[in-house]
Amino acid sequence: MEKQKKNKKKTFLILLVIVLALLIGMQFVRPEITNPPVTGEVKVPHEVQTILRNSCYDCHSNETKLTWYDKIAPAYWLVAQHVKDGRKGLNFSEWEKLAPADQKAKLWESVNQIAQGAMPLSSYTIAHPNAKISQADLNVLKKYIWSLRVNNVPQDTSKIHALKDQTHALKKKQSVTKNPKTINGIGYIDDYKKWAVVSTTQRLDNGTMRIIYGNDIAVKAIKDKKTNPWPNGTILAKAAYDEIEDADGNISQGVFKQVEYMIKDDQKYEKTYGWGFARFKTTELIPYGKRADFVIECMNCHQPMKKNDYVFTLPIQQ
Ligand code: HEC
Ligand code: HEC
Repeated sequence: MEKQKKNKKKTFLILLVIVLALLIGMQFVRPEITNPPVTGEVKVPHEVQTILRNSCYDCHSNETKLTWYDKIAPAYWLVAQHVKDGRKGLNFSEWEKLAPADQKAKLWESVNQIAQGAMPLSSYTIAHPNAKISQADLNVLKKYIWSLRVNNVPQDTSKIHALKDQTHALKKKQSVTKNPKTINGIGYIDDYKKWAVVSTTQRLDNGTMRIIYGNDIAVKAIKDKKTNPWPNGTILAKAAYDEIEDADGNISQGVFKQVEYMIKDDQKYEKTYGWGFARFKTTELIPYGKRADFVIECMNCHQPMKKNDYVFTLPIQQ
């Protein structure tokens, strides 16, 4: 009896030593996190800067500040990966490397990611609760990007004319390219225009308006609250138009820019998050993407919405 107890204690001690040795050993496997020089910091008002610094800079700048508990492996490995991936997609310390239009787009994208709850990463805010973005912070950011908005000056009727010309040209030119197809084999679907509108969004940075449509399967999934994951056969379409603001501030739809699709089939599109991605540009419906890997661009941007089956739009539940 005594002996058994002693043996148990011994095994436990041995295990403890092994675990400790492993933990200590892990500390020597350290991917490096360095802070390269800040070559050109994002230029935004002070209050906006403060929010970004507080909530985003650890992963999206060259001024990463690690706490002591970030430095303990295995958490450290995750942190190192996040910093590497985070900087690759968005780096507020190398801002001048982006063209002005891209800078605006990244800021808009940032606010969008925050509003959707995708950023800062929740795995990060658990350990850094102060980095959470409050509603007040979000309002500050929204107000700022609203101020960056491309204003379609009411007197400027050029866009309205452009729309008229476009409609006219379209009528004249009855058939566009027959059945355009993207390189990954997805054909243009004209029917989306008849589908239910699931949501609309405005992109403030470049003055476009987006309408998101869902096919019958999508609409049924929304009604049944079964959108995570979306069922196979779901098709979501996003059409982008210029936004026109008239003298009274009413906003209406302008020139058609492009339509994008996400087609759910978890087998066929297994390698691309279970979604087939396709984009057709201008009224000519030119398939986007010269090489099959164009979908990586779509995937990277939709990746933060992983918990939402890679879909941004949170449809209004009926
Ligand atoms: C703990 C690290 C971390 C923090 C903090 C963080 N992010 Fe990220 N962010 C990432 C990673 C990693 C990615 C790459 C995509 C992914 O894996 O989710 C990313 C991607 C993004 C992207 C997409 C970039 C692209 O490829 O176009 C945007 C925009 C973004 N983050 C904005 C923000 C903003 C704004 C904040 C602060 C409110 C923030 N992030 C805080 C780690 C972080
Ligand atoms: C720069 C980031 C970005 C890239 C790149 C991107 N998307 Fe999106 N996508 C978004 C955002 C943000 C939304 C949410 C709607 C909105 O606000 O425009 C969205 C929405 C969509 C939707 C409607 C469903 C949803 O998720 O809300 C479809 C369909 C879509 N994108 C297809 C594509 C395709 C196809 C590509 C690649 C050719 C692509 N996207 C590339 C950011 C991106």
